[in-house]
Amino acid sequence: MSILIRGGTVVNHDHSRRADVLIEGGQIVAVGEKLEAPGKAEIIDAGGLYVMPGGIDPHTHMELMFMGTVSADDFEWGTKAALSGGTTMIVDFCIPAPKQSMLAAYQDWRRKSEKAASDYSFHMAVTWWDKPVFDEMETVVKTYGINTFKHFMAYKGALMVNDDELYHSFSRCAGLGAMPLVHAENGDVVFRMQADLLAQGVTGPEGHAYSRPPEVEGEATNRAIMIADMAGCPLYVVHTSCREAHEAIKRAREAGKRVYGEPLIQHLTLDEDEYRNKDWDYAARRVMSPPFRPKKHQDSLWAGLQSGSLQVVATDHCSFTTEQKRMGAKDFTRIPNGTGGLEDRMPMLWTAGVNTGRLTKEEFVAVTSANIARILNMYPKKGRVDVGSDADLVLWDPTRSKTISAKTQVSRIDYNVFEGYQVTGLPVTVLSRGRIAWKDGDLRAKAGDGEFVRRDPFPAAHVANSTWREINRPRAVKRAGVVTP
Ligand code: URP
Ligand code: ZN
Ligand code: ZN
Ligand code: ZN
Repeated sequence: MSILIRGGTVVNHDHSRRADVLIEGGQIVAVGEKLEAPGKAEIIDAGGLYVMPGGIDPHTHMELMFMGTVSADDFEWGTKAALSGGTTMIVDFCIPAPKQSMLAAYQDWRRKSEKAASDYSFHMAVTWWDKPVFDEMETVVKTYGINTFKHFMAYKGALMVNDDELYHSFSRCAGLGAMPLVHAENGDVVFRMQADLLAQGVTGPEGHAYSRPPEVEGEATNRAIMIADMAGCPLYVVHTSCREAHEAIKRAREAGKRVYGEPLIQHLTLDEDEYRNKDWDYAARRVMSPPFRPKKHQDSLWAGLQSGSLQVVATDHCSFTTEQKRMGAKDFTRIPNGTGGLEDRMPMLWTAGVNTGRLTKEEFVAVTSANIARILNMYPKKGRVDVGSDADLVLWDPTRSKTISAKTQVSRIDYNVFEGYQVTGLPVTVLSRGRIAWKDGDLRAKAGDGEFVRRDPFPAAHVANSTWREINRPRAVKRAGVVTP
């Protein structure tokens, strides 16, 4: 089955040009002017549209058992929501329960993800530390094709790991050519602030924001960066939400450290006032960690995306229904943490980023797709419109508008944190490995259409940070057989 996309403007992160795109067998086989369609090719007229690599969301939680309940979108509906908004791939987190084997958690996630409608990949979480975890990490990297390990520095008493565990695990990542990810919040301080607030009678959703100020994120981000540097590995900081965390990342990058930061579309566009809404349900639906911040932090995040000190935009899609949120009706620490956003990330970022002049259309492609594929080591299979790449494409109309509403969304939850937002810039047709997955509101992708994407270890040069080089200079020199004065 061939498809010829004719007359569009191909937008990659580094270049745009008028070109046709020919697809065969799920891959792009030609990009150029006035391409001829082979015999039975389906022709798609893309006149006036941008032809971009499909979005990749590097951070989602489908059907996740978390805080005493299970997130409401599963792999089927989460990926369908993604496709309807121009995102053709997600990277979800396999999260072993404390003391659970990574291999068992991986089997759980393979089973849950069989019904994915779009392509997907996994990160693996390190939720405890002991010799078996050290051993299993090798299987995860070499056999399962997962090269990233997530660490929660918050959620004390549940998923949180301490500094000793971080250093062990980061060192193991360095040895395996893998990269650690961190949820950077000081979980000990959050735990203490939560207790203090509850003791003072603060039980509503606003307490969630008070208990997790930017300082707890800035401190943890800086600590994780320093530990990664000593362990000799790069670091990826998920949901970077505030100036303090961004500045720690920027400083590290200026010092030559390979540190990446991931703002969410929610933190770029929604602020702390959301928690002051008089309607408990309204505020609780927006409870996530880190919380939405005072507006001034958004300027820092946008500046990071513009200058490159922050590289990608994600959603951390972890959706809970209003009913589930009400588990915390008497105590904000029991409100399940998480929001949705998968189907809105691309239109919201186009509207708030490209239409305002903050981002070029090429930078939009970079932060929603190409940079993610490069940082997570699946480029140019994903993240590029070029010969040999998977035909994961979005035909984008920069003039088309809609008003976001839960009434018309694909996600299974009963509200939308962007309710009422007017977006301009929408997908028209979305292709997943050369098949039309979504077209003008017609969702054609089916459960099970998605494939797992393996991600191989990073090249060795990726894991040589500055402190590690100093500490290990004698060993490194000996290993390389190099004699230096
Ligand atoms: O509140 C959030 N972010 N929930 C999902 C789990 C996590 O911390 O990423
Ligand atoms: Zn130890
Ligand atoms: Zn997190
Ligand atoms: Zn998350």
